[in-house]
Amino acid sequence: MQKICVRQALAGQTGFHTSSDLAPLGHLLPQGEKGLSRRALLASSLALAACGQTEAAPTLAATPLKSIAPFPIGTAAMAGQFDDPAWVDLALTHVSQLTPEWEMKMEYILDRPGRYRWDAPDRIADFCTAHELRLHGHALIWYSQGADQFAGLDRPAFITGFDDYIAAVASRYRGRVVGWDVVNEAVAEDGNGLRDCHWSAVLGQDGYIARAFELAKSADPDAILFLNDYNLENNPTKGATFLRLVERLLKAGVPVGGLGTQSHLDIEIPAGQTTAFIREAAAFGLPIHVSELDASLRSDGRIDTRSRQTRLNQQTARVAELAEAFVALPAAQRYGFTVWGLRDTDSWLRRDARDDGKDSPLLFDASGRPNPMFGAVSAALS
Ligand code: G3I
Repeated sequence: MQKICVRQALAGQTGFHTSSDLAPLGHLLPQGEKGLSRRALLASSLALAACGQTEAAPTLAATPLKSIAPFPIGTAAMAGQFDDPAWVDLALTHVSQLTPEWEMKMEYILDRPGRYRWDAPDRIADFCTAHELRLHGHALIWYSQGADQFAGLDRPAFITGFDDYIAAVASRYRGRVVGWDVVNEAVAEDGNGLRDCHWSAVLGQDGYIARAFELAKSADPDAILFLNDYNLENNPTKGATFLRLVERLLKAGVPVGGLGTQSHLDIEIPAGQTTAFIREAAAFGLPIHVSELDASLRSDGRIDTRSRQTRLNQQTARVAELAEAFVALPAAQRYGFTVWGLRDTDSWLRRDARDDGKDSPLLFDASGRPNPMFGAVSAALS
């Protein structure tokens, strides 16, 4: 059944023509049909969708993403996942870079200033070394963590704790991480200005950011130092504020070495919005990291009359746009393309109280079979 549908599509008998909707299952071509044109690859996608393959493909193997991408493909990882052979197999097949999902953050490492916990982040670093994977450090300073550990400290102790934490973590993984999210989510939620937080209260808004980058540079001069944030594609105001912050920091001589766009994509955004942000971000000439890609199908309480297939088509169109915009970057600026988990059930979104148990925000379903989103990414990479 599948092959008939694919062949119909390839023969143009399906009448499909818009490329952005053709991405969903491009990776599903029978293996013997390699080397097909991108259009043919995309055309097969919708054919499979038309044949009812609107969810994960049960049979054909998914082409390993790291073998077709000319840049690192990453995923978020937790140390406990190394004890899951299915996760390890999927990760080692498709990715060449890991980002610790939470165990290299202050919430895990720091008990109180000067008291650290290294077991899980060390295990993640060791796994990367053992499997020759790149390690992206995440995240040194984040507005949402550290308030408890730094509570009650006077200004000198607070600043000493801030400096010592960055020095301790960045120097411990010096030579093991290829880059760091030095400051995470500095821009205000609505995109108007920067967040106020315990770090900015003591060191100033630009002040804590600049200090963190300078300390990270001293501790690990070779790491690429990223400013990382979310909703930069989804909310053009926030994207613009982020880029103005980057410009201000660079003009002040702050060693920002890369831009991280988390890309927790809103599948409702208009076509073109994502491409516009990536192009504007690229203008700085710095490496860009799609650092936390997922694309939720959830409507979060809104009355949503769209079919699941319609939402899947929107998801694959937006993911395809992001992947194509990233592929179009100069090679030197393609730091990495990271998904925030491999299987739908690995996603933080499926641990969220609002989860309806049906969300499919990642490349693979719970059984490790490719989702339509995988086809969108593999088609863009191909
Ligand atoms: O695994 C432990 C479990 O053993 C324990 O019983 C439980 C209760 O304490 O905690 C579990 O760990 C949780 C971990 O996620 C794994 O589920 C941590 O408490 C929890 O804080 C952690 O949340 C992470 C969150 O960042 C905060 O660090 C999410 O996994 C992670 O997906 C999320 O990732 C963030 C990025 O860092 C920044 N961008 C947004 C993104 C999503 O929020």
